[in-house]
Amino acid sequence: MEIIERVQAMYGWAESQRQAGRRIVLVPTMGFLHEGHLCLVRDGKQRGDRLVVSVFVNPTQFGPQEDFGSYPRDFMRDRDLLENERVDVLFHPSVEEIYPDGFQASIRMERLGAVLCAAQRPAHFPGVATVVAKLFNIVRPHTAIFGEKDYKQLLIIRRLVRDLNFPVEVVGHPIVREADGLAMSSRNAYLSVQERQAAQAVPRALRKAELLVQKGTLEAAPIVAAAKAEIEHEPLVSLDYVKVCDLETLEELDRIRDAALLALAVRIGKARLIDNTVLKR
Ligand code: PAF
Repeated sequence: MEIIERVQAMYGWAESQRQAGRRIVLVPTMGFLHEGHLCLVRDGKQRGDRLVVSVFVNPTQFGPQEDFGSYPRDFMRDRDLLENERVDVLFHPSVEEIYPDGFQASIRMERLGAVLCAAQRPAHFPGVATVVAKLFNIVRPHTAIFGEKDYKQLLIIRRLVRDLNFPVEVVGHPIVREADGLAMSSRNAYLSVQERQAAQAVPRALRKAELLVQKGTLEAAPIVAAAKAEIEHEPLVSLDYVKVCDLETLEELDRIRDAALLALAVRIGKARLIDNTVLKR
């Protein structure tokens, strides 16, 4: 596996692969890899000729009070895991390489940018959209793979590709869960043993909502109330939001027509966790 740290070197590598007619797949990550990331990597291996995984903890998607400084990092472990998966290139740029002096561009989404947690985390999605656009320009992938756990991120990236004509196929990968149903996340590493147990309230809340819909409830209010009750039952978990939303626009719905997204975010100790499920009638 080649480790590339400089943008110029990455351009050169991408150009030579394209000239040789090879399809490049990119899996963008912020490192501290877990089985969820490795599932994306394995998926990526099947989708092209050369696989690039980026490991870059992107400062612009963290708010001033958020955990950029303490975000878990273990580059050596990430490198070994990726080598084991026979990844071709690990792109690991420094912050200065991605945001050189004077950097000031930012990509905002008018409507998608304003839903769910936008009010509490105004800089997050512009930070994500901007860094992903840069990664697309630097790595020049034919295909890029993102997890569906951050559903809003996936929609924003699909929108970015359409609106700004990036010639990239965006693939969403289903949420990868632990045996007890908790969605895999690098931030799960923040949880103490008790908090980890309390976190099971999140998948329980999702299952409760799914069951209600299966039994015929289509009004959003009782579905939200049931999920909320499950979360509020756990004293260690505090709810940021739980919403039933349109699958494309993420606008809140009063009633499910055919399908909708149940999205939720909670705080447990130092961790902010998100999860979602598609509710189908
Ligand atoms: O999902 C993530 O890990 C990050 O938001 C991403 C897409 C790598 C951009 O920094």
